[in-house]
Amino acid sequence: MARRDPHSYNDDLQPDVESLELLARVDFSHRLLHAEATLKLAAPSEGVLDLDTRELTIESVTAEDGTPLAHVLHPVEPILGARLSIELPAGTRAVRIRYRTSPEASALQWLEPAQTSGGQKPFLFSQCQAIHARSVVPLQDTPRLRIRYRAELTIPRELRAVMAAAHRGRTEQGELAIERYEMPQPIPPYLFAFAVGELSSRDLSPRARVWAEPAMIERAAYEFAEVERMIAAAEALFGPYDWERFDMLTMPPSFPYGGMENPRLTFLTPTLIAGDRSLVNVLTHELAHSWTGNLVSNANAEHFWLNEGFTVYAERRIIEALEGPESASLHDALGRRALEESLEDFRARPALCRLRTELTGIDPDEVYSQVPYQKGCLFLQALEQAAGREAFSAWLRRYLDAFRFRSITTDDFCAHIERELPGVLGKVDAPRWIDGEGVPEGAPKPRSRRLDAIEQLAGALPAEPLAQSWSAIEWQLYLESVPRPAPEGHCLALDERFGLTRSTNYEVLVAWLVLALQSGHHAVLPRAEEVLGAVGRMKFLRPLYVALARDPRTRPVAERAFERSRAGYHPIARELVERLLREARSAEQ
Ligand code: BES
Ligand code: ZN
Repeated sequence: MARRDPHSYNDDLQPDVESLELLARVDFSHRLLHAEATLKLAAPSEGVLDLDTRELTIESVTAEDGTPLAHVLHPVEPILGARLSIELPAGTRAVRIRYRTSPEASALQWLEPAQTSGGQKPFLFSQCQAIHARSVVPLQDTPRLRIRYRAELTIPRELRAVMAAAHRGRTEQGELAIERYEMPQPIPPYLFAFAVGELSSRDLSPRARVWAEPAMIERAAYEFAEVERMIAAAEALFGPYDWERFDMLTMPPSFPYGGMENPRLTFLTPTLIAGDRSLVNVLTHELAHSWTGNLVSNANAEHFWLNEGFTVYAERRIIEALEGPESASLHDALGRRALEESLEDFRARPALCRLRTELTGIDPDEVYSQVPYQKGCLFLQALEQAAGREAFSAWLRRYLDAFRFRSITTDDFCAHIERELPGVLGKVDAPRWIDGEGVPEGAPKPRSRRLDAIEQLAGALPAEPLAQSWSAIEWQLYLESVPRPAPEGHCLALDERFGLTRSTNYEVLVAWLVLALQSGHHAVLPRAEEVLGAVGRMKFLRPLYVALARDPRTRPVAERAFERSRAGYHPIARELVERLLREARSAEQ
């Protein structure tokens, strides 16, 4: 038996599934999908076909004509889930599986009406990255393999279903509606995505539309209005946009990520909606994935940096094109700080500080960090410096072209760049970046006048005219630069002058709350608790829970906030917070 992806039972000696036809009825009252998946094989096949599943109840496995097929659902493995082995008689072209999902499916969050902004209708969404698609569909859940799909979702008539795919129509029958979708471009399974809820939309350009719950749609349309300029800038840098449409879905507040690059329908946290477009770099990032990640994908999670490092690099190039080098440098600086923090968090697990990782037996969600993002981006910036901007940009276009709609490893990347830009890997000592820990000396350093102004303060109180001129990102950089614990007087003065506790910009607010909590400034506790109850984005939950739980005086606040909010958190976020609280308790003993 051969296996290439440590997070899948897929055996590369077995037949490849080429396309999926999915019929699913969305049952809000039992929180499950009743589904039938038909998997079509690339060629008539025979022998064993192993699929990934998690928490699925398998009702039948047949050939397309209904003939039962022998199959075994193996015992559950904690990270991988349960292998479903199907015996294919000679000449099999397709298998059909009838099944239902579990209310605990790790890819799905079922929201009560009260957890939505309208408060009237339930909501359901999927989040399949990294390895959760298998809890919705039995399939070869590895990005090494791409599939096309067609799907029909049966939902309550008063709701809409959206998918990261092309809409092919809606039919209404009595209380129900059927929404049909098709994904004509082959995608890795982690990009399978849908949502069901009360949704409205606004067109922002002929190929870009934003969806949101009605209560949010106006604000969402304003915040993301510049998306077409972003797409145009990205096309100028990386080549034509290959996915036809770029729509966006504004998620309910419990969405655990900032954004998710589901093709044709990027999912975005509502915490980006600051009212002034100051946090749209997350949208830029998800758009950039249309080239880096979705066109050229990592073959498995050990090469995750090929997805995220390239995307951060591409995001900064788009920002530079639209807002200038100064702005891009500020983002570089923020990224560098986040990287240093991740490296510090992984002190005890240095192997996770490499770009190429070894993840057998390791849950990719558990080791999610800024290393592949920011170290990956720095590595590419180092290569760019070594090769020169023009040569590097031209190489990048050729790389995207060579591997479009394919899934590759770090070795594929190395071979390509070595062939096209001979010597450049050696110039930056690439093995130290790829298989070494930490950041090599001589890594590119962000340079900008605005950054210097912040650094010169060394955390001291800024003069009001300076602070008034700051963008959200400069506020974040400043707040993160304040040495902690900051004296109580400093915290008081900052909050009095700049109203930070009242900030409605979540990035600024959370940077401030973390500084305040790490400084024992307990006046912010109610606001911190409020944030933990209002949003489920892990980027915010993590530092707030850690700051609260580390200090024995505020640990009860963390425990109480989690008790109150856990039911509303996404399954992945719930697991994260459980782990953080457990770690904090055991660090105490
Ligand atoms: N693809 C990621 C989100 C993700 C990664 C989900 C791994 C599940 C597993 C997405 O593109 C992302 O990186 N989002 C970032 C935004 C960003 C600007 C770095 C986030 O959510 O914070
Ligand atoms: Zn990303």
